[in-house]
Amino acid sequence: MNPLLSRLQPYPFERLRKLFADITPNPALRPISLGIGEPKHAAPDFLKQALAASLDTGLSSYPATAGTPALREACAAWVQRRYGVALDAATQVLPVNGSREALFAFAQTVIDPTRPGATVVMPNPFYQIYEGAAFLGGAEPHYVACDPARNFAADWDSVPEAVWARTQLLFVCSPGNPAGAVMPLDEWQRLFELSDRHGFVIASDECYSEIYFRDDAPLGGLEAAQRLGRTDFRRLMMFTSLSKRSNVPGLRSGFVAGDASLIKPFLLYRTYHGGAMSPVVQAASVAAWGDEDHVVDNRRQYREKFAQVTPLLAQVLDVALPDASFYLWAAVPASFADAAAGLSADEAFARELLAQYNVTVLPGSYLAREVGGANPGTGRVRMALVAEPAECLEAAGRIQAFLSRRA
Ligand SMILES: Cc1ncc(COP(=O)(O)O)c(C=O)c1O
Repeated sequence: MNPLLSRLQPYPFERLRKLFADITPNPALRPISLGIGEPKHAAPDFLKQALAASLDTGLSSYPATAGTPALREACAAWVQRRYGVALDAATQVLPVNGSREALFAFAQTVIDPTRPGATVVMPNPFYQIYEGAAFLGGAEPHYVACDPARNFAADWDSVPEAVWARTQLLFVCSPGNPAGAVMPLDEWQRLFELSDRHGFVIASDECYSEIYFRDDAPLGGLEAAQRLGRTDFRRLMMFTSLSKRSNVPGLRSGFVAGDASLIKPFLLYRTYHGGAMSPVVQAASVAAWGDEDHVVDNRRQYREKFAQVTPLLAQVLDVALPDASFYLWAAVPASFADAAAGLSADEAFARELLAQYNVTVLPGSYLAREVGGANPGTGRVRMALVAEPAECLEAAGRIQAFLSRRA
């Protein structure tokens, strides 16, 4: 067996199952889960129709890994409209089966494990795929804590020069999961300078870019590069997806865009790996990237929901409206920590909330790693406000009751 498989950590939801194994949730209340970040708003009808219309022809041929020109052009046109960035659809865009597999596969393409000390830098907390991708690529992860005092920006300046010198790949996540922070231009500038100096590649995970609460749409990596005069997007690849934008996590559709000299080897890797997108999914994706009305409506639904739920939770928890994404990243009272039972405050909070009020939240420490004795997710929980507003409001009411009863 591949010995690197043994380095993979249990996925957060596996850890959650164990944490809850001996709990009987309050049977008087129906379960509400704020645990998994899976979009629940309705998938648009036109997208389903495009999917169905392509069935007759779409199932009868092997797709090209590069995707159809129509799909690549639809992706490039979206980037142009959304970010004002002109891309060559033939060389700077590639369809992928959702950003998850692409983030993983890209690391396997980029990392050279034969170079001593191969390192992948990532924020902490982080989307778990980054770490698994680094391990299976034969590299060591270097975790960079996100600082609550600076809107959860990763403290890139904490990375020692010697670590940057052996870094081959940097994952950035903007808007971030779990804190929803958007990376500003000056932070991009700093990372581009570091990439120029040390030669590492930047993988920019942007799958929450269309769900935002500020007036301005989140800055994208390609947009930042263009503003800074880096029109060749050297060493930069952005990852995006329809899962959250169009409420189709089951479609498995996204694309990457950026440096043509990275797209080429990535396409080669994917050709052997079997990363081609089904023609049926490609047809639906062309329709989805071409329509913005459903995205505006989806964003409106999230905005209304967050506007209602966040103030209720802010009365009892240290939590604020994020820049973007569909999560609340709330600090829980430190008094929940139960050293005797070996439970951090976030774990104990999640257990007691489930037991008493049948609401599931994800302990923040499961999304982060301990570095130097500190886990930057400890003491926080992630709440995904993906369900209908009534259900999210009900959850917020139960959390209020839970905390006032305890006080
Ligand atoms: C930060 C982040 N990146 C990527 C993904 C993967 O999404 P998908 O593969 O559906 O595009 C997720 C999914 O939850 C995520 O939270």
